[in-house]
Amino acid sequence: MSRRLVSALLATVALSATLAACSQNLAGPAMPPLPISATAPIDYVRDIHSYARPEIARVRHVDLDLIADFAARTLSGTAALDVTAELGANQLVLDTRNLDIRAVRDEKGPLPFALGAVDPILGQPLTVTFPAFAAGETRKIFIDYATRPDAAALQWLTPAQTAGGELPFLFSQGQAILTRTWVPTQDSPGIRQTYSAEITVPENLKAVMSAEMLTPNGVAAGQGQRSYRFRMTNPVPPYLIALAVGDLAFAGTDPRTGIWTEPSGLDAAKAEFAEVGEMVTAAEALYGPYRWGRYDLLILPPSFPFGGMENPRLTFATPTVVAGDKSLVSLVAHELAHSWSGNLVTNATWADFWLNEGFTVYFENRIMEAVYGADRATQERALGWESLQDTLASLPAADTRLKIDLAGRDPDDGLTDIAYEKGAAFLRTIERIVGRERFDVWLKGYFERNAFRPMTTELFLADIRANLVNGDAALERQLQMDAWIYRPGLPSNAQAPVADAFTPVDAAARAFFVDKGPASANPWAGWATQERQRFLAWRPADLAAGADWLTPAQLADLETTLRMRSEGNAEVLFAWLQIAVAHRYQPAVPTLERFLTGMGRRKFVLPLFTSLWAEGDWGRPIATRIYAQARPGYHPVTTGSVDAVVGRPAG
Ligand code: BES
Ligand code: ZN
Repeated sequence: MSRRLVSALLATVALSATLAACSQNLAGPAMPPLPISATAPIDYVRDIHSYARPEIARVRHVDLDLIADFAARTLSGTAALDVTAELGANQLVLDTRNLDIRAVRDEKGPLPFALGAVDPILGQPLTVTFPAFAAGETRKIFIDYATRPDAAALQWLTPAQTAGGELPFLFSQGQAILTRTWVPTQDSPGIRQTYSAEITVPENLKAVMSAEMLTPNGVAAGQGQRSYRFRMTNPVPPYLIALAVGDLAFAGTDPRTGIWTEPSGLDAAKAEFAEVGEMVTAAEALYGPYRWGRYDLLILPPSFPFGGMENPRLTFATPTVVAGDKSLVSLVAHELAHSWSGNLVTNATWADFWLNEGFTVYFENRIMEAVYGADRATQERALGWESLQDTLASLPAADTRLKIDLAGRDPDDGLTDIAYEKGAAFLRTIERIVGRERFDVWLKGYFERNAFRPMTTELFLADIRANLVNGDAALERQLQMDAWIYRPGLPSNAQAPVADAFTPVDAAARAFFVDKGPASANPWAGWATQERQRFLAWRPADLAAGADWLTPAQLADLETTLRMRSEGNAEVLFAWLQIAVAHRYQPAVPTLERFLTGMGRRKFVLPLFTSLWAEGDWGRPIATRIYAQARPGYHPVTTGSVDAVVGRPAG
């Protein structure tokens, strides 16, 4: 079930509206071609989603000094940037979007600056002019600024939107190109920066970041405020700079791992993620040392728009993964795996996104196998494969290439199962052909050789050819790497995961869906979440668009026998609600309404609103009514996508 629906939806929804608008601005001034080779590692590559000109002047370190004002919904203060530049350079170009830039200065005084034209996706270049750089010089440039209340990276939650109900909450989401809505810097994944921060918040709240906490309890900052200081000494792509502020409590799970969440959710989260330390150890045994010090999880309020976000040292996660039975912990394995694939070796541009997510889905499954066993891992692979088939059938062929063309498009358009599941299927194919042992040696080496570097698809190919294929022409032909990457669909060497992982489930599904047996006949109670997902994902092979595959009696049987009205597992509930909406099954509407107003994870929210919308005179009034109620609780990432389907509610 995972990303399949979001895949197709985001692709059609997000891009078309913005395509024309941003293509002109993307061209930019002529840029010298950059050397890309495996032997001379790149410092940066041209990124069409950033205005930065790092070959002239480049940000090396960001030091934030910000005050969080919950009444005004702004972060305001200063970003002090350490900048290095070519001899004679006198300009620095930064990315901003929707920022209120008050002044730019260096240690000697004010500097002239100009904001360029607004592009709806990219924002505005901020060009700072300064006296020419001397050779080898590093300079500090200070930007005094404030964010706007509708900054796309930030969500300011009212107390009512939190579990505790009494204190407000703030969190950021930087990936892919939203960091520029709260930090004026060069917002390109190829331009790694270290960072430090001092964040001042109301004294009854705590600030956490994707960085080492230098003042775990904060220090009094006067006027009812406390300041928290942080430092990230590994250079990171700016999309990994992350902040959350709220009524947060912590529980350790082992000496280097633990959970942050609102106090009322702490015990449940701690039990759910009891194996997180074991996961880190398993990951290290596979692909080398964990390089970030601590690994903690932050469980956010339900409006968090993603399942998880791999912010370094502190994965941000939706509370919908706290299922009570550890059935959705693969999300933690996934975000943890990004500590290597993504955070250590980083996609150089968003067109190379599959290098982050495909490698991570592969690695995630290896962690799951090591900690939870081969059966669970195989089932999860099979679900991913099934989801990939749906995505392949629904996307335009050009978008089923691993390396996709994002010219004039929002990087979100690449957020499909192609990057995730086709990417992982590619690596599994290589693993199968060369053998796991050889593959693991190569992959571990890949992380070591390229640590803290941006990676392009072409550099990846150069690395695997140099270090795994080694000129073996027969192996090269067998792998079909160019076809996997540059051609649509799946090459002939792709193989579905072991089919018998779900044999009994598929038999039960046939008995219910095809032979119209009673729902009570299937062993639902004995099934794990993955088996339930497989069952509910069943569709007739020849299902026509808009056609039903269940009778009203079957729907009622499913709903009552499987107790869907009280289902607590978000994945299972989502799968059921998709069926219910597609059949215009009215009795499920209260459950649907509760689900859609209770959390804001885009992967669930967007497909359900889209399916409602597709149900015309039945679904549209329901969608409009529920969205009016739910929208104020959603993060800008989610409303941005749903607005394009349902429209913005009046008022
Ligand atoms: N890095 C992604 C989330 C992301 C990608 C945010 C691109 C913005 C732009 C994260 O690692 C992820 O893939 N999350 C998944 C869950 C995962 C288990 C597949 C999600 O949020 O659904
Ligand atoms: Zn991911």
